[in-house]
Amino acid sequence: MIPLVVVGCGGHGREVLTIARAVNAAAGRQRWQLLGFLDDRPAEENLKRVQRLDVPYLGGLDWLRDAPADTHHVIGIGDPRVRRAVGQRLDRYATPAASLVHPAATIGPDTEHGPGFVAFAGARVTTNVTIGRHVHLNQNATVGHDSTLADYVSVNPLAAVSGDCQLAEGVLIGTTAAVLQGLRVGRDSTVGAGACVVRDVPEGVVVKGVPAR
Ligand SMILES: CC(C)(COP(=O)(O)OP(=O)(O)OC[C@H]1O[C@@H](n2cnc3c(N)ncnc32)[C@H](O)[C@@H]1OP(=O)(O)O)[C@@H](O)C(=O)NCCC(=O)NCCS
Repeated sequence: MIPLVVVGCGGHGREVLTIARAVNAAAGRQRWQLLGFLDDRPAEENLKRVQRLDVPYLGGLDWLRDAPADTHHVIGIGDPRVRRAVGQRLDRYATPAASLVHPAATIGPDTEHGPGFVAFAGARVTTNVTIGRHVHLNQNATVGHDSTLADYVSVNPLAAVSGDCQLAEGVLIGTTAAVLQGLRVGRDSTVGAGACVVRDVPEGVVVKGVPAR
């Protein structure tokens, strides 16, 4: 059993916990020992929700500073830039980041991913895809062949990243959006829900609509 804490008591974090549980159920053993949640400022309502999942709230992020060296963490925060800020802080504690792939996700051959990768149920990655650290593919998100997703990218539910795409660090692809083949989305840019990206997106912008502007 590998000790695991989920960072973030919000909805995304609690969903990430359910992925760890699904991994355990599929393995038929407790691969991940779910120690609890960390959050510096948990909302009262979320503490109640955590309690209903039968997993303790352990405290703030500094809890990891004194944790045993084999305690893994996974960042359960959906916003890529908040996840990056937390990830950079947790790097100081040198505890390893866990990757969680839901048993109902498919990750194809010739694909690599960094630590902290989370694939929700129904996420699909085909082949020759390079995925960085702390990338999250939400439910039913798809990533086509030969694409690169840099650190801290989030692909939200039902979004489709076509083949040969390059998503730079911190990019958010909103729910049901599409990125057409061969395109690049620049660092820290956001593609709005339902958008269709038909040309390269520069750094640090929000685009939305069909075609995305
Ligand atoms: C595009 C987005 C980033 C814009 O956020 P924002 O800057 O806070 O925008 P606002 O809500 O202030 O809306 C600004 C305008 O854009 C419009 N708008 C917002 N999101 C839009 C979208 N996805 N597509 C088209 N128009 C959109 C609003 O209607 C509003 O139009 P108006 O000025 O004519 O009234 C956000 O709406 C979005 O789509 N985020 C992704 C959400 C997502 O994936 N959620 C799933 C979580 S699992």
